[in-house]
Amino acid sequence: MSSGVSCGAAVKKKTKVKQGPAKVTKAKPKPKQNHHALMDMAAVLYREREIRRRVKELSWDIERDYAGKDLVVVSLLNGTVMFLADLVRYLDMPLRLDFMGVSSYGKGTKSGKVVFTKELKLDVKGRDVLLVDDILDTGKTLALVTSKLKKLKPRSLKVCVLLSKSARRTEKVVADYVGFEIPDAFVVGYGLDFAEQYRNLPFIGVLKPEIYELVAKK
Ligand code: PRP
Repeated sequence: MSSGVSCGAAVKKKTKVKQGPAKVTKAKPKPKQNHHALMDMAAVLYREREIRRRVKELSWDIERDYAGKDLVVVSLLNGTVMFLADLVRYLDMPLRLDFMGVSSYGKGTKSGKVVFTKELKLDVKGRDVLLVDDILDTGKTLALVTSKLKKLKPRSLKVCVLLSKSARRTEKVVADYVGFEIPDAFVVGYGLDFAEQYRNLPFIGVLKPEIYELVAKK
């Protein structure tokens, strides 16, 4: 049982703080962030701050349009992870979240056959579905996914993409919310990859052709 006396306080000695000149430690020059990845870029298209601002704007539009609705955000893995994480954090409203796995690119830079790697878990029937993807390129992926989702009878179905490359469109797919309309260049970063690399970059950059041409030749 405690006697009410703090033992630690009783034995504690007073230590004198010596005054002297403040120790100055020289800050080591920090290497530039993402230095190695930046060397692989022909250009940086959108910096972190610009992306953040645009994603916030998209979230305001979505909040306004889905107020009072039964929103289910369906995100396409894997490239959408960064965009989705930021977007849903900015969405100040109730929503459900689910994922579908789709893959189309493989190793190269051209869209190939679209393969489903993960199915939805939630029942979206009668709900307002917002399909979120990182990039709308040829439109093959979203054409296939939207037709699959329509069969599940949602009350409404809209598409939100961070990037749209209209120049390469072959399918009749229109996104309701578009972050940036981009030129026909191979872009990576902020979730987008080349051969599964560069997804972790906080910016979106144009990959130097020699990087992907090298892999394409192999
Ligand atoms: C990318 C991207 C889109 C799709 C766009 O996915 O995430 O889903 O390609 O191309 P499309 O409009 O020509 O169909 P990818 O297959 O590279 O998979 P990932 O998301 O895992 O990177």
